[in-house]
Amino acid sequence: MKRLFTTLAVLFVGTITMATAQQANERPIYLDPDAPIEERVEDALSRMTLREKIAIIHAQSKFSAPGVPRLGISEIWCTDGPHGIRPEVMWDEWDQARWTNDSCIAYPALTCLAATWNRDCALSYGRSIGEEARFRDKDVLLGPGVNIYRTPLCGRNFEYMGEDPYLASEMVVPYVKGVQEQGVAACVKHYALNNEEQHRHTVDVSLSDRALREIYLPAFKAAVTEGGAWSLMGSYNKYRGTYACHNHRLLVEILKQEWGFDGAVISDWGGVHSTEEAIHNGLDMEFGTWTDGLREGASNAYDNYYMALPYLKLIESGEVGTEELDDKVRRVLRLTFRTAMNNDKPYGAMCSEAHSLAARQIAEEGIVLLKNHNNNLPIAPDAKRILVVGENAIKMMTVGGGSSSLKVKYECSPLDGIRNYYGDDVEVLYARGYVGDVTGDYNGVVTGQNLVDKRSPKRLIAEAVEMAREADHVIFIGGLNKSNNQDCEGTDRRNLGLPYNQDAVIEALAEVSDNLTVVFVSGNAVAMPWIDEVESVVQVWYLGSEAGNAIANVLSGEVNPSGKLPFTFGAKLEDYMAHADGAKFPNPKKVFYHDGIFVGYRSFEKREIEPLFAFGHGLSYTTFEYSNLQLSATEAVAGNRIDETILEATVTITNRGDRAGKEVVQLYISDVESSVIRPKKELKGFEKVELQPGESKTITFSLTPEALAFYNENSSSWTVENGEYRVLIGASSADIRLDKSFTLR
Ligand code: BGC
Repeated sequence: MKRLFTTLAVLFVGTITMATAQQANERPIYLDPDAPIEERVEDALSRMTLREKIAIIHAQSKFSAPGVPRLGISEIWCTDGPHGIRPEVMWDEWDQARWTNDSCIAYPALTCLAATWNRDCALSYGRSIGEEARFRDKDVLLGPGVNIYRTPLCGRNFEYMGEDPYLASEMVVPYVKGVQEQGVAACVKHYALNNEEQHRHTVDVSLSDRALREIYLPAFKAAVTEGGAWSLMGSYNKYRGTYACHNHRLLVEILKQEWGFDGAVISDWGGVHSTEEAIHNGLDMEFGTWTDGLREGASNAYDNYYMALPYLKLIESGEVGTEELDDKVRRVLRLTFRTAMNNDKPYGAMCSEAHSLAARQIAEEGIVLLKNHNNNLPIAPDAKRILVVGENAIKMMTVGGGSSSLKVKYECSPLDGIRNYYGDDVEVLYARGYVGDVTGDYNGVVTGQNLVDKRSPKRLIAEAVEMAREADHVIFIGGLNKSNNQDCEGTDRRNLGLPYNQDAVIEALAEVSDNLTVVFVSGNAVAMPWIDEVESVVQVWYLGSEAGNAIANVLSGEVNPSGKLPFTFGAKLEDYMAHADGAKFPNPKKVFYHDGIFVGYRSFEKREIEPLFAFGHGLSYTTFEYSNLQLSATEAVAGNRIDETILEATVTITNRGDRAGKEVVQLYISDVESSVIRPKKELKGFEKVELQPGESKTITFSLTPEALAFYNENSSSWTVENGEYRVLIGASSADIRLDKSFTLR
């Protein structure tokens, strides 16, 4: 059932009439790879029957749509996404097809990518995963995800890019471009407001327009208008009473009319609920609808899709016209000619050395050193015995968590990474410390690990403590995992605390060790009641195939950490505004985002709550000095264009330590006086700069009116007000080093 070879296919169609024979000789425009895409689209459209048009806009299997076999128009094949290429599944099942040549490289989760604050990492991520998708003959990669981190309980935060719309926008664009360079469409998901999982199929989200525009939409907009995304996935939830997969405001008014999106809107799997709404409200392709295959179209369950026979019937009965259908078909054809029938597409590559290297470099750059008392890290070069404690040191993390689950060619565990790094020079011991979740399978992919350990929590702690007494450095590796109610699609966490008795293990270790490092494998913030008792804390995310190597390189000092948090770590759940004042969570039915634009650091700063670790925070083994902030003018004038540079800010960064390192220099804007309430400051620029010991570099930021604007609900447009603005330069949202003002006239 794989795609037909395009040019030949047209010669082998069943009934060759005179007309089609002539066309075959002349090669129709739609088959001419050099013809402009729009001409190919119109030509193909003009040759399609009504039934062929209906067929092309819905799935024929779990992950494919049929194309037009009669015309030799290729099938479209999708794959998850977003951290690696999903193993092949059976035609009509979620279960893997048990191929033996579909193992992939797992790249770090998107939270880690966001934590690199490095646009080049996002580009290399997109290129690498795009190459694997292309090699596996996939046309649409179901990712990246850019839903905003509104609450630390959302089970799917690990697949997204954090709490800040500017950071997520800057990181999503190169990812999309990198993927699409390979002739594979990025499918940016889940549009929009899919900020909790448990009731994702029923929750109905309302919020202010300002919050929608300022917080939740910018990354999608950037992916479309700057990244040029060829497809986008509607989310499961409702927005203002209508499902997002067929929501007129989101899809037609904003995405297609305002942003000029010319790609295809793909439903999330099973996210369609109404033929009428799907027709009129901007959905282009339907995937994953549940059907029992027993009603109409028993021979092909996919005929039951909302955008299949029910749509055809409405057209045939004259109840709806074909204008909407033609628009959808055009979009699907455009997607096909950009991907499957793009003759310039590269060949792709699978599990290459370059991919492993990219995965490792992204992982290393995304690891965040949160705390490092007394320079406890890197591990002292004279350490002779290292104790590693904790389930996450050995547990495979690429299997589980929902649709992002992978079948990897290899996954280097943290313990293996540390052992490999030190070889025979250092004794690396291991103690389990706690037992979390010993299962390890997802849709037929099994880790094969036997993690069962029947010892009591008390015995496990006692063993770890005994061993810790003799160790030169103790590394606890815990956090969350990909099981239900942890970092997992379809469920949310129940609280901010660490599961499986881990707090007790850490506290017990802290009592006997002066060199305790706590490493968290997770995609979410966790509470740390013992924070003052441990020397170091490192947030390492889900790092994929190269996890252990990257972790070992950072802990040993081979690599100087340079990641910064893409979301705020609050000390307790109520500190997040989404959970303040007894707000209900999760929400089975209606939820109003009472926090409005005050998400993440915007809310912590407004409510003057000190976070455990601030947005943008991340330490290094060296120190950086910030100096000489200069603005190109003290007054600026906004011209007609919102993206025109009106002012430049330059700042000098110097490495004052004795090792090379990278620093993420962050620029925040504060509107001193405004007619509306505004966050105390907002991220509007960042650069990651690499410096040798003693080296200085000067960075220039260009400021546009866009960086000063707020969404004005009275005029339904972006407004820039005259007056004073402060330019704040810092090493995190809570560590502002330099500050200068200018006036907008
Ligand atoms: C998820 C999507 C995923 C799709 C296909 C859905 O349940 O929400 O993110 O791409 O399944 O696996």
